[in-house]
Amino acid sequence: MCGIVGYVGSRPAVPILLQGLVRLEYRGYDSAGVAVTGARGVEVRKLAGRVPALASLLGATPVAGTCGIAHTRWATHGAPTQVNAHPHGDCGGALAVVHNGIIENADVLRPQLERAGHEFAGETDTEVLAHLIEDAPGETLEDRVIAALAHVEGTYGLAVVSAAEPDKIVVARQGSPVLLGIGEHGMFVASDASAVLEHTRSVVYLDDGDIAVLRPEGYHVLDDESHVRVREVADLAWDLEAIELGGHEHFMLKEILEQAETTRGTLRGRLLFDEGTARLNGLNLPRDAAAAVQRIVLLGCGTSWHAALAGREILESLTGIPAYAEYASEFRYRRMAPLPGTLAIAISQSGETADTLEAMRAARAAGCRVLGIVNVVGSTIAREAQGGIYLHAGPEIGVASTKAFTSQVVALALLGLYLGRQRGMPADEGRELVCHLAALPGLVTHALAIEPEVRVLAERYADARNALYMGRGVNFPVALEGALKLKEISYIHAEGYPAAEMKHGPIALIDENMPVFVVAPKDPVYPKVVSNMQEVKARGGRIVAITTEGNGDLRGLVDHQLRVPAVTPLLSPVLTVIPLQLLAYHIAVLRGCDVDKPRNLAKSVTVE
Ligand code: AGP
Repeated sequence: MCGIVGYVGSRPAVPILLQGLVRLEYRGYDSAGVAVTGARGVEVRKLAGRVPALASLLGATPVAGTCGIAHTRWATHGAPTQVNAHPHGDCGGALAVVHNGIIENADVLRPQLERAGHEFAGETDTEVLAHLIEDAPGETLEDRVIAALAHVEGTYGLAVVSAAEPDKIVVARQGSPVLLGIGEHGMFVASDASAVLEHTRSVVYLDDGDIAVLRPEGYHVLDDESHVRVREVADLAWDLEAIELGGHEHFMLKEILEQAETTRGTLRGRLLFDEGTARLNGLNLPRDAAAAVQRIVLLGCGTSWHAALAGREILESLTGIPAYAEYASEFRYRRMAPLPGTLAIAISQSGETADTLEAMRAARAAGCRVLGIVNVVGSTIAREAQGGIYLHAGPEIGVASTKAFTSQVVALALLGLYLGRQRGMPADEGRELVCHLAALPGLVTHALAIEPEVRVLAERYADARNALYMGRGVNFPVALEGALKLKEISYIHAEGYPAAEMKHGPIALIDENMPVFVVAPKDPVYPKVVSNMQEVKARGGRIVAITTEGNGDLRGLVDHQLRVPAVTPLLSPVLTVIPLQLLAYHIAVLRGCDVDKPRNLAKSVTVE
């Protein structure tokens, strides 16, 4: 949700903190701030607004020091104002805290602290932490942080600095992601790897309940009784180029255009031609466990839930196992009767989405075997799942998810192939699917060539106020995804529907002002989709059809066709979604929207 970063070492902290915030800004971007310890104690600079504005403020009122923490915010408690921006201090300004998460009992703790004489400056839940630490007993800052956290309920990834120990940062994790970076000239803390990648590849992922103490010369990890905990040092696989724009105007466009490479990355080393199956090393689902699966529950939020919906069709078709796609946020609170033989699959780009993580934990508690399909290596869902598939799609910086979706569909097809072959799918059928998958990245390159045509078409729809998206079968989720992309980056109201559902209500919305985007590749349900388009046409609706190259049927019926290469139907979402991603992108650019950081959104939703 928010992004935190910290540095303690031999170099000036401010430039390192600001660069870290630039990298983390996709996590939340309504206000920002830094706190640096030095000769004048703890100095804080913060404001409502973006990181460049904070950099100007620091230019005008500089602070000096080699130890500091910083924050970029996505407001949950308290409006995005200067006083509610992080860092938050105690009454005397002798310490400062940055926090990602929610202090659920802040409403109880705050009046207690106020009665004890503490004065609060803002309305955030986080400020409670600063005053709790101020009040807490203990010789060292870490002692006081541990004592303070004993009163706290909720989630946090936090970092604290103090005037009393100016070359120390204390970090704590409960529910929100935090990693440490081991650098040559100092130690780093951050919400994710993008903030430390240009300084180090050596990172330590903290677990829930960890308290870390960072000094210029190193770090140690403690538990809540100050016993030392040993944590593994991991090596980051990404390179800096992956988190740079690389000459593109926006990360979203860069990530759309790199989908041939990213789907190739998801397939790399996983296709076994002779055996006609997939090799999924991290899956941890041996033959007997695969045979014991009676049903599959796919869990996700937003775009990942759309991938889950497509995955339901793909897995049922390839394995014959009943599959269900569930909104993780609903599933986690449902009373789930333990059903032996249930395989739960948590789908998440970031691997940190709180609802998906908790839904996975609930499924596990109900006796399910839990797998993760995740992009971010070392993320919480990846580390807690019993096995899984990494997407290897590289970092996704644009808030609107694009390349993760196509790689999620590819990963689900690989899983379906593996499970299907374990459960009686003939080798020939497996080999055929392996060939289709192997050819997919090339078809993606082909589909992306449509970009200039979409850029022109976008001009016709940039002033739309509403839009409808329709699809059937495995392309119904693509209609949902197209609508979500348009909504989240252009702020045009849009809805996706199973094409046949339109007659049961949405058809009332159709007139000459309602653009209708129909996902209609040539597949077994294509004739049905054509009749749905005729129903729209009969009401004067404007239709843009996403269809298969060489399909001449739709002339006279639709206003515009966007064609993608032919492919086996189950894999078609990887291609049909591309024109819709590009359309949403170009419409948003034409409307002057901030495509990479759309209003009110954040890349990783780590709070409920
Ligand atoms: C999609 O464009 C959005 N950013 C959002 O719906 C996202 O898909 C959702 O928050 C799930 O994120 P995850 O895949 O990281 O779990």
